[in-house]
Amino acid sequence: MSEPVPKPVTASTRLAAVWGAPIRHSASPAMHNAAFAVLGLDWRYLACEVEPERLAVALEGARVMGFCGVNLTVPHKRLALEMMDELDPSAEAWGAVNTVVFEAENAEGVWTPVGLLKNFRGPVRLRGYNTDADAIVRSLREDLLMEPRGARVLLLGAGGAGRAAALRLADEGVETLWLQNRTESKAVELAAEIADRFPAVDVRTGLPDSDVEFILNATSSGLKAEDPIPLDLEAYPVARADAVYDMIYRPSETPLLKAAREAGCRTANGLGMLLYQGAAAFELWTQRPAPIEAMRAALVREVYGTGESR
Ligand code: ATR
Repeated sequence: MSEPVPKPVTASTRLAAVWGAPIRHSASPAMHNAAFAVLGLDWRYLACEVEPERLAVALEGARVMGFCGVNLTVPHKRLALEMMDELDPSAEAWGAVNTVVFEAENAEGVWTPVGLLKNFRGPVRLRGYNTDADAIVRSLREDLLMEPRGARVLLLGAGGAGRAAALRLADEGVETLWLQNRTESKAVELAAEIADRFPAVDVRTGLPDSDVEFILNATSSGLKAEDPIPLDLEAYPVARADAVYDMIYRPSETPLLKAAREAGCRTANGLGMLLYQGAAAFELWTQRPAPIEAMRAALVREVYGTGESR
C-alpha cells in the first residue's frame, strides 16, 4: 500500500512538536506526521532539543507563534507543571505534564484548542495534560500481558515519567510497589505521597526483598549507548521478575531488556506507551479520532526499519 502524501507546507500549516533533551531519538514526528497525512490534515510535527532552563522561554515562543500542541519528554514533565495556565485533572492526579494544548477563545468566548480555530485573536492559554499514565497501564496489559492489580512491582525512576507511572499503578491497586531512584530522596518523597493517597498499597523504597511480577524502567538511563543499566543486577538479579518493561523504545532493546530476555523474562519496550500517549495527545489537539493503526505502523517502521516489530 502506498504511503499517503503529506500536504505541502504553506503559511497556513499548523504546528505541533515534541521537546526534550536529548530528543534526536524521538519517533514521535514519524508517528504524528503519518497520522496527519492519513487524515489529510495540513499539520506538521517537529522535534526540538530544548534544555530545561529554556523550557519557559520555548513555551512562550510557541504561545506567540500559534503552535497547536507540544509534547514534553525527558527532563521536562515535572518542570512544566508550574508553567501551565491550566492543569487538566490528569496532570494534577499524576503529577506531570507530557501534553500541552494551546487554547484560545472562539467566537462565542469558549476556550477551544487553537488547532480547531482558523482565525483567533486575543490571549492563548496553555493547558497541561498527562496522557502517559493511562498509556503505560494499557501497554503493560497489551504488550507485557501484565495485570497491575495485586502485583508486586519494582519501579525504577522517580522523575516525571516515574512519578506518573507510580501513582497510576497505585491507583490500579498494585499490592506492593518498590520505588528505586538514583537520587533516593525523590523516591522517599514519592513513596510518602503514595502512602498518603493510596493507603491500601504497600509502598517501599529501595530494592525488593522478594520476587516481583514485573520491573518497570521509567528512568532515562539506556537512551544513550554509554548509559549504565539503571538496576544493580548483583543486588537484585533480573530473573527475580517474571517480566520487564522499559519505557525507552530506542534503542529497541536496552541493556536492561537484553539482560531480562537472557534471564528468561518476558520483555517489552516503550513503543506501546509512546503510541497510546501520542494517540491521546493527537485527539486533544485535533479533536479527531487518532488513526491508531497508521500511527503504530509508522512507529514500527521508524524504530525497527521494517513492517513488523519483534
Ligand atoms: P522525565 O520527566 O522524562 O521522567 P526526569 O524527570 O528528568 O525525566 O527523570 C529522569 C529519571 O531518570 C530520574 O528518575 C533520574 O534519576 P534522578 O532523580 O537521580 O535524576 C533517572 N536517571 C537519569 N539518568 C540516570 C542514570 N544514569 N542512572 C540512573 N537513573 C538515571
